Amino acid sequence: MLTHSVAEETLPDRFRKLWDEIAPVGRDAGSGGYLRYAFTEPEIALRDWFRGQAELRGMPVREDGNGNLFAWWGDPDAGDAVLTGSHFDSVPHGGAYDGPLGIVSAFLAVDELRAAGITPTRPVVVAAFVEEEGARFGVPCLGSRLLTGEIAVDRAAGLRDAAGVSFAEALGDRPAGADPGLLGRFAAFVELHVEQGRALVDQGAPVAVASAIWPHGRWRFDFRGEGNHAGTTRMADRRDPMLTYAFTVLAANKEARLRDAHATVGRVSVEPNATNAIPSKVIGWLDARAAEPETLHGLVEAVRAKAAERARRDGTELTCTEESATPLVAFDGGLADRLARLLDAPVLPTGAGHDAGVLAAHLPTAMLFVRNPTGVSHSPAESATDADCAAGVTALARVLEELACR
Ligand code: GLV
Ligand code: MN
Ligand code: MN
Ligand code: MN
Repeated sequence: MLTHSVAEETLPDRFRKLWDEIAPVGRDAGSGGYLRYAFTEPEIALRDWFRGQAELRGMPVREDGNGNLFAWWGDPDAGDAVLTGSHFDSVPHGGAYDGPLGIVSAFLAVDELRAAGITPTRPVVVAAFVEEEGARFGVPCLGSRLLTGEIAVDRAAGLRDAAGVSFAEALGDRPAGADPGLLGRFAAFVELHVEQGRALVDQGAPVAVASAIWPHGRWRFDFRGEGNHAGTTRMADRRDPMLTYAFTVLAANKEARLRDAHATVGRVSVEPNATNAIPSKVIGWLDARAAEPETLHGLVEAVRAKAAERARRDGTELTCTEESATPLVAFDGGLADRLARLLDAPVLPTGAGHDAGVLAAHLPTAMLFVRNPTGVSHSPAESATDADCAAGVTALARVLEELACR
């Protein structure tokens, strides 16, 4: 059924061929980065591509009530399935590999197993999770949180994008509502992902196994002041929320450095956003992460306290809202060690969030990372060589063989 002959081409060639099918989808000609937001045209094109790849391989597709896609290989009644896959959606002007690499690799790993004459003793399911980045509706890993019940269907349905379109509206006429039996059909999850740092470059290895995900979250800081004229308002009379905001960004950076943690304000909105007007309102979104939950808590509390104190000095008002929080994820240690031995691969923690982090609370879960020569991610500079991507496919195929074919 496959369009290629597995015997004739090398695995890096097969990777490149499949990769080139999706590489142009949603790429911005200016930045070279990707704009692939959940249920927008490029992401829908990738969902159609997913269905096409599943069909080519004779894998029936099930779409749950939340927009997540699942393609089934093997007898669906042959026990609980091993799930693998990732997401198609990107951050604004994101890299090519974050997400799609895990889906493309999953289909290729199925091909490798089939070409080797291996059949699964339990189903292997390739997944595409919706809205992993939270770039459209604000909550990261929304699809996997819905699958696991970690976010209520009603709350998710009401999340709105910047244009006011709700998640429920964006789902359109797709199946809607929870698919309660689905999670119970999975025995384990393995997500392959491009590495989002330089550990594999430093260690000279193409593939690693994940040990943990740092606890992390998003906090929205609303700073309110008094909009006024830039030319006529005396400096002493101003209640300028931009000042409180700017101070808070610097405080977040300082507090994170003091704790060896990470704090980022990568998104801001200003009203009225005019050069010659003192803003009436500034909203900044803090992304904070740390190795330990106590460190993260201490960091966020210190930033809140400093922002509040500065707001008093500036005569502005501050509200701080937690938008999402992901606890420390320690992946199944036994599974990680077993896979690291199987693959002869290093084991690494990461500061990046993943659907695997959500599923890890419900299923034995593991992650594989593929080396990223630039170490850069959430940027067009993210990269991976075809040879390393092929090494990732081989590693994933071995893991699926270990978990689903014995
Ligand atoms: C998602 O990639 C995140 O770590 O924010
Ligand atoms: Mn990402
Ligand atoms: Mn990702
Ligand atoms: Mn992620």
